[in-house]
Amino acid sequence: MLTYQCSKYTKIRIKGISVPNISHYNQCSLEELSEIVNIAKEIKEHAQILLVIGIGGSFLGARAVIDALTPYFNETKLEIIYGGQNMSGAYLQELLSFIDKKEIYVNVISKSGSTMEPALTFRIIKKYMEERYGKEAKQRIIVTTDPETGILKRISEQEGYRRFLIPREVGGRFSVFTAAGLLPIAVAGINIKEFIRGAKRAENDFEDKNVQQNAAYQYAFSRFEMYQRGYSIELLASFEPRLNTLHKWWKQLFGESEGKDSKGLYPSTVSFSTDLHAIGQFIQEGSRIVFETFLDFEEIDADMKIPFTIDNIDGLNYLGGRSMNSINNISRDGIALAHEENGIPVHKIILTKLDPFHMGYLMYFLMKACVISATLLDVNPFNQPGVEVYKRRVRELLLKESSLLLTMKQT
Ligand code: PA5
Repeated sequence: MLTYQCSKYTKIRIKGISVPNISHYNQCSLEELSEIVNIAKEIKEHAQILLVIGIGGSFLGARAVIDALTPYFNETKLEIIYGGQNMSGAYLQELLSFIDKKEIYVNVISKSGSTMEPALTFRIIKKYMEERYGKEAKQRIIVTTDPETGILKRISEQEGYRRFLIPREVGGRFSVFTAAGLLPIAVAGINIKEFIRGAKRAENDFEDKNVQQNAAYQYAFSRFEMYQRGYSIELLASFEPRLNTLHKWWKQLFGESEGKDSKGLYPSTVSFSTDLHAIGQFIQEGSRIVFETFLDFEEIDADMKIPFTIDNIDGLNYLGGRSMNSINNISRDGIALAHEENGIPVHKIILTKLDPFHMGYLMYFLMKACVISATLLDVNPFNQPGVEVYKRRVRELLLKESSLLLTMKQT
């Protein structure tokens, strides 16, 4: 299912520690699950576009799974697009003209309800939906937010939107197994029951008290050893471009959970072999600050054979008859050898198959490893005080600017 292999340079010493429990992160009730499935069905029947509005943990988990498990080139009846991740006026303007004349549903996801990027985007989209659909807009906007507080909760009550809840104790980057992740994933046609089953299995496997046999502990302890030995960057590397959004989710999970109190590895990612032609030189011969974690899936459904040609003009007949994926695998082994020869520790997380079950299994594994890792660093994995500082400063500046403008207008 999942194996973790340490680099030949690592001798990890794993011991039992007291790690916060996260099993409640994967407890969507049967009732909620069936509501998610029903609303996903309704969206698939009535929409050409599902617009997911959210930022950070509130959309990345869903998008990571969707991008990993849907085709690269996808001509579907229903497209999932994303908004609220930036403050680009151009992006929003183009988004609005793209959705015009297509049937739209909106899922706005924000735990706090007050994050600037999704809040501003939603204000514009809400107005658009009301102008376009009138009373029917209410049916087409679905809110996912905190059960008790927040502006989005208030708006949804006032407007009568259907609402899903992100449990109080579950933070954005840990919320992929709640409605925040599950609704968009279900709309994409991915089997969410299998996804949750994978996470449940991981929950069980990584509770194993025999921590020596526990891959989540192995991964966390080997990261910690690298950190103690002076490495400052962990590069997550994979070989299938559809995992690129999962990279972003991983980067956020570890970066936001660990990077505090002047501690933590800097999480960075590369997609091989593409990035070898960009950053490969640095990895091979640059500053010795990087170690790698290869993320790999043994079975990937689609593949392609290299044809033989009569003239062999490109000299590639020696690869004729082989599959692209097998060449990708050999190239992976070659990259590992080249990097290890130069003293770069290469660790490996290997999963059996790229499917909903294993995605659930992997994401729970990473969340668990992240919490163990933060415990080793003695930081709280569940808060993000640094992000709050930026949010506060931006709000202060905007308020100052706006009151200045108002005074100028009045005089
Ligand atoms: O993981 C986190 O907690 C953050 O990345 C949040 O998800 C992100 O800041 C968005 O917050 P909210 O869902 O409150 O809009």
